[in-house]
Amino acid sequence: MGIALIVHGGAGDIADNDVAPYREGVRVAAKIGWNILAQGGSALDAVQAAIISMEEDPAFDAGYGSYLNRDGQVEMDASFMDGRTLDAGAVAGVQRIKNPIVLARRVLESEHTFLIAHGAERFATEKGMALVDEKEMRAPNAIAKWNECVKNPPPAPLAKHAPVKGTVGCVAIDQSGNIAAGTSTGGMNFKRVGRVGDSPLIGAGTYADNLLGGASATGWGEAITRVVLSKYAVDALANNRHPNEAARDAVQMLASRVGGTAGVILVDRSGRIGWAFNTPRMAYAYLAPDGLVVASC
Ligand code: GLY
Repeated sequence: MGIALIVHGGAGDIADNDVAPYREGVRVAAKIGWNILAQGGSALDAVQAAIISMEEDPAFDAGYGSYLNRDGQVEMDASFMDGRTLDAGAVAGVQRIKNPIVLARRVLESEHTFLIAHGAERFATEKGMALVDEKEMRAPNAIAKWNECVKNPPPAPLAKHAPVKGTVGCVAIDQSGNIAAGTSTGGMNFKRVGRVGDSPLIGAGTYADNLLGGASATGWGEAITRVVLSKYAVDALANNRHPNEAARDAVQMLASRVGGTAGVILVDRSGRIGWAFNTPRMAYAYLAPDGLVVASC
């Protein structure tokens, strides 16, 4: 069985100056994930490692670098799904977790599917994960963006504006034909305290099923949630449709049904990859069959 992996680093109105760090960040993440698959590792481990790499890169709106809410604090969301078992794990509104995707994986491995805020953090300590000071998760570029918003509050409703730095995600298939997908985000810049978008919602931000494929979404979370975009994109792989066609179908449906702006990445059960977005840009990277990384933004 052939391996395949694709990552995204967010869809939105990415400024020209930000293109280089985005492209480099997704390139590095894709290579990290690919190396795990190439050594016979699982899709779950590859997705986790690729997303950790982007969570620790302040270019992205996930982990360290997450956008700050109206109180100037991070509130992070993540989800993870195993296409072999349909086990799923998600966390929302966590503030003291260095790598929310790792906590989502711990939830996936537990009897639960979704834990939030303090309860999720308490679960993390029970699983032996260290809690960090929330202030340590505030990156200088996120603080600068927050200060801009304090001076010039963005027009409401905030969520209609495509983010300029992005949610991260990864989908992979391993040598055993198992598919995994994950997504991690700090959500919208200057979001209302307690606001949760699509990223931790199974079916909206993330979906994986070995029978068809896996998906991760990025973009305007409220719109993605309303149409359950990732599940739609995976279902669109039926009848052996190419993932590029399924991704385009999903994004067109999002636009026509709810006027949404977003991107989605896909891997199908044959190891074919696809992506589509209707935002000005989306950062993404994948491994070509010759093992070379193709990164774009
Ligand atoms: N797509 C990320 C969010 O809306 O929170």
